[in-house]
Amino acid sequence: MKKDLESPEDVALLVDNFYKKVVLNEVLKPFFEGLEWETHLPKMKKFWRFLLFDEPGYTTNVTEKHLQLPLTKEAFDEWLALFFLTLDEHFVGSKVLLAKERANIIAVGIKSKMNLLEN
Ligand code: HEM
Repeated sequence: MKKDLESPEDVALLVDNFYKKVVLNEVLKPFFEGLEWETHLPKMKKFWRFLLFDEPGYTTNVTEKHLQLPLTKEAFDEWLALFFLTLDEHFVGSKVLLAKERANIIAVGIKSKMNLLEN
């Protein structure tokens, strides 16, 4: 039985399983080559605990972190598709909807700054 995201352990499972898919994805994996996973994964877990459970302490400007990367519209489509898939594989409930909504808003924000929005 699937349940909603409720705990730091749930967030850890989400993040770990999402990046397992990311590194197997032909479009996304080049962006993550050489990244220090021991620092990236804890940052991502803290970020999602902040977004989903209002845990204080995450202050990084996420949009800024991406502006130097050669991102494409296709990369965003893949990122969001894999993130939504990972959420749906493991969880169901209002935090799943919130996570999708927040991810989408942030993706649109980054795309907008990079002039990657359609029309
Ligand atoms: C095209 C899609 C994306 C790609 C290829 C991508 C790639 C990356 C990479 C390579 C980093 C590491 C940057 C560094 O440490 O120097 C990073 C950091 C990060 N990304 Fe993304 N990203 C994407 C979309 C998103 C979206 C949509 C979100 C939010 C929902 C997000 C949230 C983050 C966060 C929170 C960090 C860590 C920032 C920090 O605390 O240092 N990313 N991303």
